[in-house]
Amino acid sequence: MSIIADEHLWQEIISPDSFSGEVMFGEMMKRHTSLKIGGPADVFVFPQEVISLKNSIVALKKKNIPFMPVGGGTNLLVRDGGIEGVVVSLRDCRRIEIVDDAKDLVSLFVESGVPLQKLVSFARENGFSGLEGLVGIPGSAGGAIAGNAGAYGYSMKNVIVSATVMHADGRLAKLGAEELGLEYRKSNIPAGSIMLSANIRLRKDIKEDIAKRGEGFLKEKRERQPLSELSAGCVFKNPEGTSAGKLIDEAGCKGMRIGDAEVSAVHANFLINKGNASAADFIKLMDAVRAKVLATFGVELETEIKIVGRE
Ligand code: EPU
Repeated sequence: MSIIADEHLWQEIISPDSFSGEVMFGEMMKRHTSLKIGGPADVFVFPQEVISLKNSIVALKKKNIPFMPVGGGTNLLVRDGGIEGVVVSLRDCRRIEIVDDAKDLVSLFVESGVPLQKLVSFARENGFSGLEGLVGIPGSAGGAIAGNAGAYGYSMKNVIVSATVMHADGRLAKLGAEELGLEYRKSNIPAGSIMLSANIRLRKDIKEDIAKRGEGFLKEKRERQPLSELSAGCVFKNPEGTSAGKLIDEAGCKGMRIGDAEVSAVHANFLINKGNASAADFIKLMDAVRAKVLATFGVELETEIKIVGRE
């Protein structure tokens, strides 16, 4: 059931003069996820700045209406029933600024809505090293920090200095690297808190060397990962000391298919949408893969992607 079905009800909750930004009703989440799967969000809002975000979440909290922040929707599986309440995207908050320029190091202020690849390019073009391994990873900078995105020995944890979050009651807080607790594909950011921006530290280096490293990683990625297919990246976390992709492959799962959801023949930890996969099919395929790996190797795979929404 939809909580706020239309503009009229939305405006009863939050007056137009206290919110700037786009608001959509019943918007299909499949239009906003890299998997192209997901039912309708009751409301999907794109605040233009922090005060509109704050006004909306404070008003929603008063009415006990749930809200959920999303980044680029690239590590996300939304169920077919869509999302109850309000989905919040900081897509329109996308500033990058150099805030401190020392001899060898530079500090950048980055808003959550900055596409991660825009940040990676900005660093490369300015001769700032530290993000090369993240080349080709889709999504937003905010999402990359919240999930500690990484590849080829690089990760957000290695560059983060602090982040500013808005807690579910509208309070702002600045969290240092330690408090953020970035570990392999996770962070300590409290559920319901929204990451607004971060300060990261990069090292100055020769532009050509940075570009060359990035090109090397991208080449490897293109060879090993099905980048042209609809996916949410790796679906399962790597168990300690091994690769989930290798286990899934060796358990014989490549090519397994339920509806339009399929285990990629290129990299077995990528489950792909061949066209019209439902979330139900995708989850059934995940369960089948997990069961096969458990039966073959006795290893229980942990899910990496975030699964949200109504059945
Ligand atoms: N392998 C197979 N079959 C497969 C896939 C992989 O045998 O279908 C083998 C490879 O041959 C290799 C080993 O498994 O010997 C490791 O494979 P790969 O180098 O592709 O790395 P991965 O452990 O599968 C991790 C990250 C990726 C990241 C790459 C590169 C996880 C879950 N995956 O993959 O991150 O891009 O390393 O650093 O941590 C993601 O998190 O979404 C993601 C794609």
